[in-house]
Amino acid sequence: MVNCQLKALKIGLLMVWLCGFVLISISFYASNQMLPPSSIKEQIKNPSNSVGPTVTIFAAARPFIGLIGSRQSLAVRSWLGLSQDIRVILFSQDPSVFSFADSFGPDSRVSVEPHIDYTFLGTPFFHSMVARAQASDSDISVLLDSETILFPDFISTLNYAHKLDHDWLLFASSRSMLDFPFQLDVDGQHWIGVNGQRIKTKKLQEFLSHGWREHCDDKKVIMAWNNGDIPLHNGALPPFLYGKGFHNIWVINEALSSNFRFVFDASFTISSFFVNSLDLYPKIEARNWENVGNSHLRAFYGSLFFREANYSTVIKLFECTGHYHFGNTTENIVFPFGSVKGLSFNGLEVRRFSNHKKLFGCFDKIKSLGKKVGCSRKNQSMSLEPLVLPFSLEILLSMRADHNKTIVLAVAGYSYKDMLMSWVCRLHHLQVSNFVVCALDDDIYDFCVLQGLPVFRDRLAPRDISYDDCHFGTNCFQRVTKVKSRVVLEILKLGYNVLMSDVDVYWFKNPLPLLTTFGPAVFVAQSDEYKITGPINLPRRLNSGFYYAHSDSTTVAAFKKVVKHASLSNLSEQPSFYDTLCGLNGSYRLNDDTCQEPETNLTVHFLDRNLFPNGAYRDLWDSSNVSSTCTSIGCFVLHNNWISGRQKKLERQVSSGLWEYDTSTRMCLQSWQRSKPISYF
Ligand SMILES: *[C@@H]1O[C@H](CO)[C@@H](O)[C@H](O)[C@H]1NC(C)=O
Ligand SMILES: *[C@@H]1O[C@H](CO)[C@@H](O)[C@H](O)[C@H]1NC(C)=O
Ligand SMILES: *[C@@H]1O[C@H](CO)[C@@H](O)[C@H](O)[C@H]1NC(C)=O
Ligand SMILES: *[C@@H]1O[C@H](CO)[C@@H](O)[C@H](O)[C@H]1NC(C)=O
Ligand SMILES: *[C@@H]1O[C@H](CO)[C@@H](O)[C@H](O)[C@H]1NC(C)=O
Ligand SMILES: *[C@@H]1O[C@H](CO)[C@@H](O)[C@H](O)[C@H]1NC(C)=O
Ligand SMILES: *[C@@H]1O[C@H](CO)[C@@H](O)[C@H](O)[C@H]1NC(C)=O
Ligand SMILES: *[C@@H]1O[C@H](CO)[C@@H](O)[C@H](O)[C@H]1NC(C)=O
Repeated sequence: MVNCQLKALKIGLLMVWLCGFVLISISFYASNQMLPPSSIKEQIKNPSNSVGPTVTIFAAARPFIGLIGSRQSLAVRSWLGLSQDIRVILFSQDPSVFSFADSFGPDSRVSVEPHIDYTFLGTPFFHSMVARAQASDSDISVLLDSETILFPDFISTLNYAHKLDHDWLLFASSRSMLDFPFQLDVDGQHWIGVNGQRIKTKKLQEFLSHGWREHCDDKKVIMAWNNGDIPLHNGALPPFLYGKGFHNIWVINEALSSNFRFVFDASFTISSFFVNSLDLYPKIEARNWENVGNSHLRAFYGSLFFREANYSTVIKLFECTGHYHFGNTTENIVFPFGSVKGLSFNGLEVRRFSNHKKLFGCFDKIKSLGKKVGCSRKNQSMSLEPLVLPFSLEILLSMRADHNKTIVLAVAGYSYKDMLMSWVCRLHHLQVSNFVVCALDDDIYDFCVLQGLPVFRDRLAPRDISYDDCHFGTNCFQRVTKVKSRVVLEILKLGYNVLMSDVDVYWFKNPLPLLTTFGPAVFVAQSDEYKITGPINLPRRLNSGFYYAHSDSTTVAAFKKVVKHASLSNLSEQPSFYDTLCGLNGSYRLNDDTCQEPETNLTVHFLDRNLFPNGAYRDLWDSSNVSSTCTSIGCFVLHNNWISGRQKKLERQVSSGLWEYDTSTRMCLQSWQRSKPISYF
């Protein structure tokens, strides 16, 4: 400890800080009574600090293919080589990412997390990534880009930060390189040059110091935080799409202004870089999501927006003669004790005129490097171009249909957006991915685009149907339901089978394998019969909120009749289905669960009421555990109908636990967050 530079310092207790970490907590306990005694015990139990903090690195991985694949592979291996305490979790649903993780063998430190929110094109949502990283059980979570290469000073910085006596969030910018000619050796610990020789750290540092280039890329910001109880920032993170926009910077800004955690810039102590590359998320998506500027998000998610990325006043971490110190570059102040008491540096600073030549020498040196995080792009607000997914209905259907050419269709207006999300999350959970959403109004269309859903707009839909009380029996409801049969007919004509499901139909299991067994010229629908015995196809007992229509000429011909009938009727489309297909008064009934329309010969099959119960049958919604009661009778789905009013419907579904979406965090409820209470009201 020769270079401790202690001579001039007055406060004896703090001297230990500079010379070792063993007594840090004790010294702070003496000076800061707020520190809980338990952390002292921990320090004493583990005096040598030989065991570092556990660290989990989270990154959204692109497919491991080609150049990007090898860059990502190099990056991940550089992380793993830093410490045995590092685990890696890659966000992806792509098979090549799973194979990459498997290549490290069973029980390896690399795993894949497919259970966060993704757009239908496979791009992960940033807010969902952050939430997953915060749910980590490791001491420290790190979020970075999957191509970022790290060096040992990363782990030293984290080891240091881990000892701070306040919850913290650090960020660091990565350097951008045009080329990096080195490779990692087999054990992932040493860098080797083109001639196969090990590269000395010093040479590597020298090489890296030349590579620095100014850039303006949010993804290249590393964020790390300790997993304490204190949130990163106030409020909720909007549903940002990963890789599109300044989201890391948004989090840092919010963290700074929330003042919950000690936020510092560790760019000077973390050497990291990436080889400059083009953005590789699907081009088509990129183009559109770039338009999804803050103005749109603001419209949906309130104020909170992007401020200028200028971190010149943020405290910087730097290293001097083997020790870490904090400094404020705008004021030319250093904090030689390296400490953060609470959030205050008061009374610990040293100014230039005091006797710390060496320290200021180091400080001046790093300042001259002029590393900056963020960039001077001041205005991120974007023009209010309308949001449009560049997919026609035909393309969307061909992208989404399963191999039986079947589509699951939901039709929704803005007042049902939360219900829609819960329904979508449930389908994600059941791994049903062949759904599309038909938007009844512009608001729900924009909402779906922002939520990454495959959505199309029904151009003929009436414009004014986002009413809160657009429920059964109202004039609005009648007009909405007529949209549905028209859209289904359009899709049938394009050659796709359609499972039409209202968003208030809760799916316990995927009904498609059963529904597809009925074959052509059979229309399969839920019965609205509430009695436990007797026929289920009595007049007007056909529920048009859940049915399966096979794409064939018979079905199309019959559907044309239904749509025509509905267009002339004053009622909703539901009676049109029954009256057209089963005859007025049920005159086309063949037996207790089928009808046959005589002109087209379409057979109508009513689904078993135990397997596809409506909301009145057996008072299922009133049972103490709806889920277990339904499961015991073999339900595929349960319809949340036979209840009046949107709010009551929502309450019933949320309180019964058949709810899959957290409106406060704007994320699907995933297994890793189930323990938390669901917030809806
Ligand atoms: C650093 O100094 C600037 C200029 O005085 C000041 O505004 C800022 O609050 C300081 N930063 C911190 C974290 O104290
Ligand atoms: C950042 O802020 C500092 C102090 O407020 C100012 O001197 C500097 O020009 C700003 N930098 C940019 C890029 O706006
Ligand atoms: C930022 O963008 C908005 C909207 O495009 C514009 O009105 C405003 O003048 C811009 N501000 C600056 C500083 O460029
Ligand atoms: C596709 O159709 C076949 C034959 O009807 C059926 O066995 C299979 O379950 C269907 N697949 C899905 C996902 O519905
Ligand atoms: C539809 O409503 C109009 C006026 O409300 C009424 O005159 C007409 O008879 C109704 N038609 C049918 C088929 O019910
Ligand atoms: C349907 O029933 C009503 C009353 O029960 C009767 O007046 C009407 O003629 C019946 N219509 C048909 C087509 O059987
Ligand atoms: C419906 O079936 C009847 C009796 O089998 C047959 O005469 C008629 O041609 C069929 N209609 C169509 C449209 O296939
Ligand atoms: C309902 O029962 C299932 C098991 O059948 C159980 O897992 C679940 O926690 C229960 N739900 C409630 C709300 O009690």
